[in-house]
Amino acid sequence: NNLESCQIVIFGGTGDLTHRKLMPAFYNLLAKGSLPNNFSIISIGKGNKDRQDYLDDIYQSLQKFVNDKLQDEFWNSLKEKIYYENFDFEDKKRYQNLKEELERLDNEYQTHNKRIFYLAVPPRYFGIIVDNLEEASLLNPLEPSWPRVVIEKPFGYDLESAKRLNKQITKVFPEENIYRIDHYLGKEMLQSMMMIRFANLVFEPVWNNKYIDNIQIISNETVGVGKRGRYYEKSGALRDMVQNHMLQILALTAMEPPTDMKTESVRDEKIKVFKSLANFDSKMIADYVVRGQYDTGTVDNEEVIAYRDEDDVAADSKTETFVALKLLINNMRWSGVPFYIKTGKRLNEKFTEVIIEFKSSFHPSYSKRFIDLKPNLLAIKIQPDEGVYFQFNAKELDSKENIVPVKMNFCQNCGIEINSPEAYERLMHSVMIGDQTLFTRWDEVEYSWKFVDQISEAWTKKDVNFPNYQAGSDGPQAAHDLLAKDELKWWGV
Ligand code: BG6
Repeated sequence: NNLESCQIVIFGGTGDLTHRKLMPAFYNLLAKGSLPNNFSIISIGKGNKDRQDYLDDIYQSLQKFVNDKLQDEFWNSLKEKIYYENFDFEDKKRYQNLKEELERLDNEYQTHNKRIFYLAVPPRYFGIIVDNLEEASLLNPLEPSWPRVVIEKPFGYDLESAKRLNKQITKVFPEENIYRIDHYLGKEMLQSMMMIRFANLVFEPVWNNKYIDNIQIISNETVGVGKRGRYYEKSGALRDMVQNHMLQILALTAMEPPTDMKTESVRDEKIKVFKSLANFDSKMIADYVVRGQYDTGTVDNEEVIAYRDEDDVAADSKTETFVALKLLINNMRWSGVPFYIKTGKRLNEKFTEVIIEFKSSFHPSYSKRFIDLKPNLLAIKIQPDEGVYFQFNAKELDSKENIVPVKMNFCQNCGIEINSPEAYERLMHSVMIGDQTLFTRWDEVEYSWKFVDQISEAWTKKDVNFPNYQAGSDGPQAAHDLLAKDELKWWGV
């Protein structure tokens, strides 16, 4: 493969993401022998600490966030490669020092000027860092695929800000050097989605409006907003989950078969889905989009506070922690098939699934007698269980003519603890080998903001009565009504 020697420069080295996801990902990659031989990590953070303190902190985090017991052999090998620098990202002078340090390590590790800049920082720093890197000549020489820049979400706040940000970054980096993270794309079952669809005979022929009644994309969380109130207040579930993760799942579910499985071919097909999303007018937004915010309640047997009482959240906050919506895709394959998206925090159970509900077309003698005969369902389970099930109707055991729904279930990780850093392992590995397939291209970001902006703009004009769902419940009543109007209900798990 194309695993080349490289230097990883992490801006935000003391942040949550580095501790929870990035370092565990590097540790696991090293343990699997999937890091290049010549490799170093330079972490830049704001904490005033020396290298040994930093390594101690990282070690503690690895103990918490790596699923397997840490092995000295791997940790010793990783820690030798980790360096720490402490400076303010806005301090231009320090980028000169950084340059010298990177050159020194480049020589020491023989990484041949191949650098990956990982921006694990709040978005207001994205542009500043990129400009400072350029000014300090840290990006030279700029080759077709090096240096690489990895950008965490959120990529902007709306279309306008995303465009501004993109301009700033593309002024310096060509698109093929930019890796915009959507960590859902690193999840095992989302990668498997294309194989399920295109490596089987049975699914593709029925994957259309002739056989499918509706598709539900659900990502429920039990966690609240935690310590991220400041960020979340400006974001809300629509920007935090729908604009990126949920629309990416939608695109992979609904896209046409690409001409081949190369990065750009897949991205081209995903973009067509975004382009075909029906425009929403204010009536559609009122009818098709539900927002919610959690109140106090009980989650996993623990009493939890309301969103408005969380740290850094306004006492009269109008930020949504829940969204459910119905959307339509205007193309031949999907015309007439509603797609329902639902995501929220502090719900009763954590799971992410795509559920395909087939039309209820049965032999007349069955449909008359069994009024509530269940439809066929195909579910792609993304987390915590990773797998697929198919629900179909069969004769009830030992009865003469009763029909009951039964499930064929494939679960590839049942009984095994879910390994949350895995998506990041895969993503980091992809960056190192220069594969952009699991990252979003600018036009994907652009079109998804266009879609989401229509909703957020309409919301600012309309007042809302929050909180409207109990923590630990299955969301606001209006989300059930949304489907009930179409004589449907939410599936899942
Ligand atoms: C992140 C959001 O992108 O995804 C978080 O910012 C959310 O608010 C998280 O909790 C969910 O990710 P996962 O992998 O736990 O489903």
